[in-house]
Amino acid sequence: MSPFRAYRIFEENGKSAGRFVELSLDDLDPGEVVIQTHYSSVNYKDALAATGAGKVIRRFPCVGGIDVSGVVASSSDARFKAGDQVLVTGYDMGVARDGGYAEFVRIPADWVVQLPPGLSLFDAMALGTAGFTAALAIHRLEQNDLSPDKGKVIVTGATGGVGSLAINMLSQLGYHVVATTGKDSEHEFLKSIGANEILPRSSIDLTSKRPLEKPLWAGALDSVGSDTLAWLARTMQQDGAIASFGNAAGVELHTTVFPFILRGVKLLGVDSAATLMPLRKQMWQRLAGDLRPKALAQISNSVSFEKLPEVFPKMLRSEIRGRTVIEIGIKH
Ligand SMILES: NC(=O)c1ccc[n+]([C@@H]2O[C@H](COP(=O)([O-])OP(=O)(O)OC[C@H]3O[C@@H](n4cnc5c(N)ncnc54)[C@H](OP(=O)(O)O)[C@@H]3O)[C@@H](O)[C@H]2O)c1
Repeated sequence: MSPFRAYRIFEENGKSAGRFVELSLDDLDPGEVVIQTHYSSVNYKDALAATGAGKVIRRFPCVGGIDVSGVVASSSDARFKAGDQVLVTGYDMGVARDGGYAEFVRIPADWVVQLPPGLSLFDAMALGTAGFTAALAIHRLEQNDLSPDKGKVIVTGATGGVGSLAINMLSQLGYHVVATTGKDSEHEFLKSIGANEILPRSSIDLTSKRPLEKPLWAGALDSVGSDTLAWLARTMQQDGAIASFGNAAGVELHTTVFPFILRGVKLLGVDSAATLMPLRKQMWQRLAGDLRPKALAQISNSVSFEKLPEVFPKMLRSEIRGRTVIEIGIKH
């Protein structure tokens, strides 16, 4: 096989630095399945990894990219054969093991998911870790008795990848969705993908010291963490449930126990990367079925592989709306 392009992240002078390199298959971590990449995507974690803004990389050098979709080029594992359309998200990809920002990916067979009927390889990356996380969050909330008749569901970080996909999925399931955003220019977009109400971030008092406030939400999906998550906890309805997956504003959480012991509020953690395969497959079936976002094309855009490094700083500055798919092998 001739050399192929990859975006590899190095540690130089104590800092992360990503650049395009030529690799051969033997340069990649071992694995039973070789995938010819069609698409990858950019998640918040990818931006942290590539820029060093967050210490998420555990092994240098490392090909970036926590997501990939493509076609199996070869497999020494009987579960996969050349020509299969597949996707991989999470595990150690792009942080401790060579990931999806390469024209070929070599990966353990245990991490590979067959592309479910109803999704294209492009769709799989328009969803990617973000869509998978939104699905997991909804699933966890449903398992904890959330249903549309219980009340409003709030989504924070609404214009982000997870947030915008979650809004569209929840709207399709019949929920009354409230979207919080820091982007005043995106209210119409959020309504067009299913938000019933918009709550501008500037209108929320994050500084209140009251342990409980007016109960507003039956469910919450939180991309933001920190003071926003504490505010969610004190504004949940009786028996409300929060799916916590994000830390866009920070990792600390200062709250009291009152939402939990006086209102029965449930705080549910979501870890997409380590999701076990049976649940992983179930979620991808749902993403191709009842959770498939009808506004997926509106929420996603694609850029060429060459433009990948331009996306990371924009994402960290919160200048991106929805999902960014990276065209690696195939043009959309
Ligand atoms: N646990 C998991 O398995 C998992 C999986 C995927 C993602 N995540 C995490 O979930 C979060 C969202 O990921 P993503 O890929 O959707 O990222 P993203 O596309 O960058 O979205 C994050 C959104 O959060 C909002 N935001 C950014 N900075 C903020 C701040 N300082 N205060 C309040 N809101 C802020 C912005 O939305 P608005 O401008 O609309 O407010 C932004 O679009 C990230 O923290 C990511 O690491 C976790």
